[in-house]
Amino acid sequence: MVGTDAHACAGTAGRAAWWREAVVYELYVRSFADGNGDGVGDLIGARGRLPHLADLGIDAVWLTPFYRSPMADGGYDVADHRDVDPLFGDLGDLDAFVAEAHALGLRVLVDVVPNHSSVQHPWFVEARAAAPGSAARARYVFRPGRGGSGELPPNNWQSDFGGPAWTRLPDGDWYLHLFDPEQADFDWSHPDVGRHFEEILRFWLDRGVDGFRIDVAHGLVKDPTLPDAPDRPELPAGLYLPSGPQWDQPGVHDVYRAWRRVLEEYPGERMAIGEAWVADRAAMARYVRADELHQVFDFAFLQASWKAADLRGAVTRSLDAVGLVGASATWVLNNHDVARTVTRFGGGPVGLRRARAAALLMLALPGSAYLYQGEELGLADVDLPAEALRDPVWQRSGHTRRGRDGGRVPLPWSRSGSSFGFGSGAPPWLPVPSGWGECSVEAQSGHEDSTLELYRRALDLRRRHLVPAGPEVEFLDAGADAVALRRGDVLCVLNLGREQLPDPDGARLLLRSDRTAGAPDTAAWWRLP
Ligand code: NOJ
Repeated sequence: MVGTDAHACAGTAGRAAWWREAVVYELYVRSFADGNGDGVGDLIGARGRLPHLADLGIDAVWLTPFYRSPMADGGYDVADHRDVDPLFGDLGDLDAFVAEAHALGLRVLVDVVPNHSSVQHPWFVEARAAAPGSAARARYVFRPGRGGSGELPPNNWQSDFGGPAWTRLPDGDWYLHLFDPEQADFDWSHPDVGRHFEEILRFWLDRGVDGFRIDVAHGLVKDPTLPDAPDRPELPAGLYLPSGPQWDQPGVHDVYRAWRRVLEEYPGERMAIGEAWVADRAAMARYVRADELHQVFDFAFLQASWKAADLRGAVTRSLDAVGLVGASATWVLNNHDVARTVTRFGGGPVGLRRARAAALLMLALPGSAYLYQGEELGLADVDLPAEALRDPVWQRSGHTRRGRDGGRVPLPWSRSGSSFGFGSGAPPWLPVPSGWGECSVEAQSGHEDSTLELYRRALDLRRRHLVPAGPEVEFLDAGADAVALRRGDVLCVLNLGREQLPDPDGARLLLRSDRTAGAPDTAAWWRLP
């Protein structure tokens, strides 16, 4: 193997901040563990399962929204950002969760949803009751319609979930919602909105959370003239990187500069990661300049196909981009919005093999990795019956897109029980398949070949060998169908071709994603002499 290029993320002086090499676990609260038997996951249930996360070897947990919400979009329609929805518990349960996580050595990130609020947020309730053009409406994006009597939406923007991004009130005014009509977009040019969110950040920082995952981080600021959006360019299947006057406007960076100042007032390396689906890497890197967010998800890696050139290109372009601004890379293969890797990479045994191999590539890379619950169990998306679907995407798309529920099915913890240990009362909010128990934590624990044990070993080895090696990585040439990289004395080789790869000379095997190191659709970590 011949060295071809080298990448380095700029480090900080002395010890690197915790988040630069962290493994963060996305805990999708309503599907993780049901503590009160109502069929929906909650904070008490999640707290009871924290030892599983500590055993897994992660560094931090990201909790998806547990705030007061009518649950039109699984809690991403927030009515009160400073309270816990009774469905998930109360503030005391949240405090207990944070305290216990900290006692186990785990940090806690919470979601913040600043692009929109539920239409049940007091500000929207007030706005709806007020007259068109009134001050109460100015905190959201209200506009008169087009056409002779205002019967057409103010522009051609489409909701991400399908249909127009505007809804008309009986008084004739239209309001903007880039997502569901139940999620009204704030107008971030109104000073109340910025103040509101700084108070929200402080509220949770004061309660001891370690940082935030920022929902739709690229959407807050719109082109103020609200022009029509150009037609969406033809994108390869599944690729979703929106651009246009709704997204990634320059003014959004002022918001994150202000938020960074708030975070830095607090001790303990508090941080924020943005969910910014932006089209190019330069745009992505702008979110992580030194005075803005700490991290931003790299979704091009998540969207790379099962081809060596694609995966390798996604990795090197990301490292180059964040390296320019001194930020650390972040990697994600799964989250609650996309099909799970097992399904994306082909489904069945092939999909699982590839998902396990991809995980070893991700966990070998410098920067931090964001896991999504169930990925450590090798779960695939569940093909749910139409009547079970709860994602608003299903309704809004006129039943043409099934939405994201297939990857949100409640986790199996034990081999038996009506919901395999997820809860012990009402049926789970999404049905669990009959064979789910065989994927459970109980079924996989202690089995050397299980995906759970693979993740446990990978996270342990990563902590002991890869993190101490620092941010430098060298990509090696292992042929057109492989991705090979070296960090410190660890070599990671991912084989995407059809031929068996030879063992590297003199190297000792540390970990393999399948029984035969070097086999097609597998990855292995080797210790170099
Ligand atoms: C991104 C979240 O991850 C997704 O679940 C949600 O539907 C949208 N933002 C709208 O908040």
